[in-house]
Amino acid sequence: MAKITETVLRDAHQSLIATRMRIDEMIPVLEKLDNIGYNSLEAWGGATFDSCLRFLNEDPWERLRTIRKHVKKTKLQMLLRGQNLLGYKHYADDVVEYFVQKAVANGIDIIRIFDALNDVRNIETTIKACKKEGGHAQGTVCYTISPVHNLKLFVNDAKKLVNMGADSICIKDMAGLLLPYDAYELVKALKENVKVPIQVHTHATSGVASMTYIKAIEAGCDVVDCAISPMALGTSQPPTEAMVATLKDTKYDTGLDLNQLNEIAEYFKPLRDKYLESGLLDVKVMGVDVNTLIYQVPGGMLSNLVSQLKQSNAVDKYEQVLKEIPKVREDFGYPPLVTPTSQIVGTQAVLNVVMGERYKMVPKESKAVVKGEYGKTPAPVNPEIQKMILKDEKPITCRPADLIKPELKKIRSEMKEYLEQDEDILSYALFPPVAEKYFQYRKAQKYKIDPDMVDYENKVHPI
Ligand code: CO
Repeated sequence: MAKITETVLRDAHQSLIATRMRIDEMIPVLEKLDNIGYNSLEAWGGATFDSCLRFLNEDPWERLRTIRKHVKKTKLQMLLRGQNLLGYKHYADDVVEYFVQKAVANGIDIIRIFDALNDVRNIETTIKACKKEGGHAQGTVCYTISPVHNLKLFVNDAKKLVNMGADSICIKDMAGLLLPYDAYELVKALKENVKVPIQVHTHATSGVASMTYIKAIEAGCDVVDCAISPMALGTSQPPTEAMVATLKDTKYDTGLDLNQLNEIAEYFKPLRDKYLESGLLDVKVMGVDVNTLIYQVPGGMLSNLVSQLKQSNAVDKYEQVLKEIPKVREDFGYPPLVTPTSQIVGTQAVLNVVMGERYKMVPKESKAVVKGEYGKTPAPVNPEIQKMILKDEKPITCRPADLIKPELKKIRSEMKEYLEQDEDILSYALFPPVAEKYFQYRKAQKYKIDPDMVDYENKVHPI
């Protein structure tokens, strides 16, 4: 029997509409989703936390509690970037442990934990914290293709994660690069070497995803990630219904009911139309993109690139940027392209193209990668580029978080004027200015101040 994790509440809308689905768009369908019998509902984490605070004026913790209130039977799953949590830098262990504690306390059952570089040292604290809180820790290996990535490396990474206490292993193919027969070999090798369940996560970007799942399932894969059809395909996951129908009456039968799933689909169809009309959903991310197989660009990154270039009236540079990405990646030691490395490599590629000269402008995040501040890259960083960027500074080789002192106390004192719940400390720890702006909005709402009366962009009001 194969099982399905439904991603409509997290990755599907993160990949298709830049994570803009609101909680009021989810609530009416939550109970129906709960009744399907999914392995789990991926409903939190990833970019949803940032998006709630930054764009939707929603408290991400309140969102989680609301979902939990309506989803009583199904396991809730979240995506967490190891020592980066849901932010874009490394946090001290005390922040990581507190975050995991609060995530589980507010309703998360399964935490899928990954590190952008597959540096397992960046995953260990989170796995341990998750186990301590009684959660299911899913250790994740990011799938990528490069001269240094092979079956042996992936299996070794998985073994290390299981030894750290991972309850299951996820092969995370954020770019849709995993081809069906490679998936077969990979899952087979994992099943032979680790005893825990294997889950495969991919994106339909390159058009091979459903085939990949079938071969993975034939090799013994226990769970696959799918999205209900109106929010499936393109840069999102393969459609749930197609997978259920394909496996029906085979030894892999998911046991899910197509008619019941259709009711979920009916709910999301008008929403999808709304996203299309508003331009939030761009048809560009819906087709089959063979560029993905060539340039290894993940789904979320493609939709971000399109909207970034649109904003700066530089859509004509799209192809050029796509070609620059693999070059930057090689310079940076072949990191898998996933948050935050996808943003870092993507931004550097955009800068290299727009500035007309490579590494003329280097954001501090790019510098951090070549310095080792994110961890060990799969291959060494190009020494010439490293020297050009670091100049006299020495790269670091230890676990990056070993250099970060406990920071929870300091963060709490910094934001205590806004504190309404303990979780606010974590929102602020992850996104200080964004969370602060949200806290001000929340305060204004509480005292029923018309938001239009307050200029949130500018905290100082000259008289
Ligand atoms: Co994904």
